[in-house]
Amino acid sequence: MTQDELKALVGRAALAYVVPGTVVGVGTGSTVNCFIAALAEIKHQILGAVSSSVQSTARLQALGIPVLDANQVEQIPVYIDGADEIDHQGFMVKGGGAALTREKIVADLAERFVCIADESKRVAVMGRFPLPVEVIPMAAAQVTRRFAVAYGGTASVRPGVTTDNGNLILDVRGLAITDPLAMETEINQWPGVVSVGIFARLRARVCLLGTAQGVQTLVFD
Ligand code: A5P
Repeated sequence: MTQDELKALVGRAALAYVVPGTVVGVGTGSTVNCFIAALAEIKHQILGAVSSSVQSTARLQALGIPVLDANQVEQIPVYIDGADEIDHQGFMVKGGGAALTREKIVADLAERFVCIADESKRVAVMGRFPLPVEVIPMAAAQVTRRFAVAYGGTASVRPGVTTDNGNLILDVRGLAITDPLAMETEINQWPGVVSVGIFARLRARVCLLGTAQGVQTLVFD
């Protein structure tokens, strides 16, 4: 199976986690696009979606799925999103699509994060994928220096990208994320960091992994 076929497979498998009569949290990215396409088939069973990006909102609305403002929603049962890397505990690196901050906001509303990913995303130690960090533009250079000193990482501004929130993305190379919770907590303290693409506190509880043998369901307790 191709990577696109694996994405389509897990995108459809995620329908099983959508709770009828509720609002579903929707992430961002090519795997989530497959989920959105499948979700359209059962759109009459849900109240609508809370979206993590302008891009996903446009896709949802084009398919006739109502999109609610996050401020209108107190709690949702499930948030479905992809990942750039996921480890054996459900910790993830996200933000390849620059939507990490809104993804964290919607994930925080949800009781359960269901990650959908093809098997190339599964890693033993995260860090090979450059770590995305959303920063206020005037802090980019200072946060870059801080990564070098604190972790020996090399940060660079993602060219031509402004987030949905009007900020920059730094991509940080050369990291070994051996303690995701500690690293997320530390980087979140740095002035100018809006959010870091380590999803440790908001980790996945389930991962639907697309493999050549079909969908593998990983449960992280
Ligand atoms: C978006 O900002 C990201 O967090 C995506 O969830 C992640 O990059 C996975 O995207 P793909 O499904 O396109 O690989």
